[in-house]
Amino acid sequence: MKVLVVGGGGREHALCMRLQSSPSVSHVYCAPGNGGIEQSGAAGCLTDIVASNFERLAKFAKDESIDLTVVGPEAPLVAGIVDYFREEGLRIYGPDKRGAQLEGSKEFAKSLFERNNIPTASYRVFTEFAEAKAYVEAHEFFPVVVKADGIAAGKGVLICETREQALEGLAEIMVERRFGEAGDKVVVEEFLRGEEASVHAVTDGETLVVLPTSQDHKRIGDNDTGPNTGGMGAYSPAPVVEGALLDKVIKTILVPTMHGLRQDGIDYRGTLYAGLMITRGGPRILEYNVRFGDPETQVILPRITSDFGELLFAAADKKLADYGTIEESPDACVGIVLASEGYPGKYHAGKPISGLDTAGAMPGVAVCHAGTSQRDGRLVTAGGRVLCVTATGPGIAEAREAAYAGVKQIDFEGAYYRTDIANRALSRA
Ligand code: AMP
Ligand code: GLY
Repeated sequence: MKVLVVGGGGREHALCMRLQSSPSVSHVYCAPGNGGIEQSGAAGCLTDIVASNFERLAKFAKDESIDLTVVGPEAPLVAGIVDYFREEGLRIYGPDKRGAQLEGSKEFAKSLFERNNIPTASYRVFTEFAEAKAYVEAHEFFPVVVKADGIAAGKGVLICETREQALEGLAEIMVERRFGEAGDKVVVEEFLRGEEASVHAVTDGETLVVLPTSQDHKRIGDNDTGPNTGGMGAYSPAPVVEGALLDKVIKTILVPTMHGLRQDGIDYRGTLYAGLMITRGGPRILEYNVRFGDPETQVILPRITSDFGELLFAAADKKLADYGTIEESPDACVGIVLASEGYPGKYHAGKPISGLDTAGAMPGVAVCHAGTSQRDGRLVTAGGRVLCVTATGPGIAEAREAAYAGVKQIDFEGAYYRTDIANRALSRA
């Protein structure tokens, strides 16, 4: 089959690579893709078709007889790309606009959890600043978490240590409207303590296929310091959520979510990426993403040995029950993100990148391109997160060593990476 991947980051590069090596897949295209995806040969890139241009994407899918379109980022899902494609009679993997509200609106998600007894932080929703203010003024327990309801580029969640901070946060979102419409509503919720982990599953609304577990590293600095980023590295499997605990996550969180969506009349065919807090009282759901994680995808997919293209095809067709379970490699995978100096703040682009071929030729090592582009036949940096170097190995320690060996081969001016990726998994072992 022919597959079109929508998006152009490290996650999409990993999706293209995995799909291309799937026996069921003959051709992979990526729109818009990026310099590295094109150069590595993982997919043919349609650099002039952006992910928000549904009309052109659908026209390409029709003209080229694409059998399956796979959507990477959340924005086109929230904006209804799946509804558009299905109306045009095209097969697409991802939730429709209503299903994407699970990520697009915190109130939608929290209400679904509440109605289905899914363990989560207790919460209140406010549309009026005065009411939210009165609530926080009377609140006894801090920290408290203040969240803009809509999508705010990963910056809409404020952990407030004190009442003053919470009041400032509310004013920022509701009065100054720092996140625009995303702050029309605010969720104020209980602060949960524990270790974070994530579980990805693929569902067609009736059957759930759980993917290998993973953990990412959100902060910019070593030892989880500094501001939050999109993710600076990841590893799989994540020992914090294996065995009985994983079973509990499936039983008490993922399956009830799938049933809850169906009960609300939502035909959800896509990824359920559960962001969890493993508390002393058991796993609780912090949030869902309706797409694959970045950089989690880069470390999860190399560990799936069964046909990944067939899995997504079956989900899009509501035939997951016939697919069975996936085969998981016993090897571990670790991914290290190389970022531009200054990220997640301001950074400079256009820096030539060297050493990619040497790194890519090392045993078990693969380089996923995120913010790269081609200029005069050379690859240069073009984003905050530039590359994710992954490596597989018999255990986390070996995979990590190989990944860092790969990282050391690569250079561009101002290249930054964390030196402690997967430390937590190692200290647990
Ligand atoms: P979210 O986008 O809801 O996952 O929030 C982003 C990050 O904020 C999470 O990955 C957690 O680190 C943190 N966070 C969100 N909600 C809570 C909570 N209720 N308790 C503690 N930390 C939280
Ligand atoms: N790595 C976090 C995310 O994809 O949302």
